[in-house]
Amino acid sequence: MHNRLTKAVLLTPTVAALWFLNSYAFEYFSVDPDRYGIYWPRREWLLVHIIAGGLALLLGPLQLWLGLNRREVLLHRILGGAYVLGVLVSGSSALYLARHTDFGWIAGMGFTTMAVAWIVSTSFATIAILLHVAEQHREWMIRSYVLTFGFVTFRVFTEVLQVAGVGTTLEQMTAASWFSWSVPLLITELVIQGRKVLAHSPSRRGGVVRRSANPIGRILKEGAGVFSWAKTFRQPTVTGLHLSSLLSSAPRSSGRVDGAEPQYSHEAREERPSVPCP
Ligand code: HEM
Repeated sequence: MHNRLTKAVLLTPTVAALWFLNSYAFEYFSVDPDRYGIYWPRREWLLVHIIAGGLALLLGPLQLWLGLNRREVLLHRILGGAYVLGVLVSGSSALYLARHTDFGWIAGMGFTTMAVAWIVSTSFATIAILLHVAEQHREWMIRSYVLTFGFVTFRVFTEVLQVAGVGTTLEQMTAASWFSWSVPLLITELVIQGRKVLAHSPSRRGGVVRRSANPIGRILKEGAGVFSWAKTFRQPTVTGLHLSSLLSSAPRSSGRVDGAEPQYSHEAREERPSVPCP
């Protein structure tokens, strides 16, 4: 990953998370009923929710950075465990807070769906890495962190609506309880899936594509290219050597020792989730 992009991945959410914690979360580290306001009757749940959620919020960018750059694998695993614990504890308390919110059932449903999506995506990320499916782990972790970040987006969204004078407080909270996480998640999905679609276009696979002036001819030609590429995977004679050369630009092995599994490069495993991890 490019250095500047790495820094942006690490720094932007960290700065936003610190702003959120300083502006909205730290005030609850007291036993003053005035500070808790409407949350006083459920203060224990909120405090647990904030501490565990804050942990996940701060660990997320560091974890993404370590994971995407394959640095400090042991540290990544330990902090990953802490992140998952943070999500499970904060997500469970969020379910209670959502059930008892003062902002009505539509907002309650929005918070509940958000908490369920948070727990499910983090669980899938954990299961994927336990099964050594690195690509799926990475995708689910990105979704998980987009959801962790959902409450920061929630506050930004409500602040913007307030400044713009759009709606009542109840309407702002209700809209934010759904839009603050579903829209970022949709954008994330478009990027993840869109990259996969584009990676399969013939021009991205290194071949020189001759452009036809006729758009229908072009579509047919590209379709034929995709079809012939797909056919190579159906050939019964595909060997470990052949497959690795299709999947990876890494140096080829000299062949396959009888009975032994073919060795794949890291790049190959990234490209094809089904390629096993060692
Ligand atoms: C997807 C994850 C999350 C869900 C579903 C969720 C859900 C909730 C719910 C239901 C409430 C009570 C809302 C109300 O009744 O007014 C709440 C409050 C709060 N949550 Fe979360 N939360 C999540 C993540 C986080 C994270 C990561 C933090 C970081 C510390 C956090 C910090 C807070 C704070 C500070 C409040 C108090 C309300 C405020 O002043 O903004 N939440 N959350």
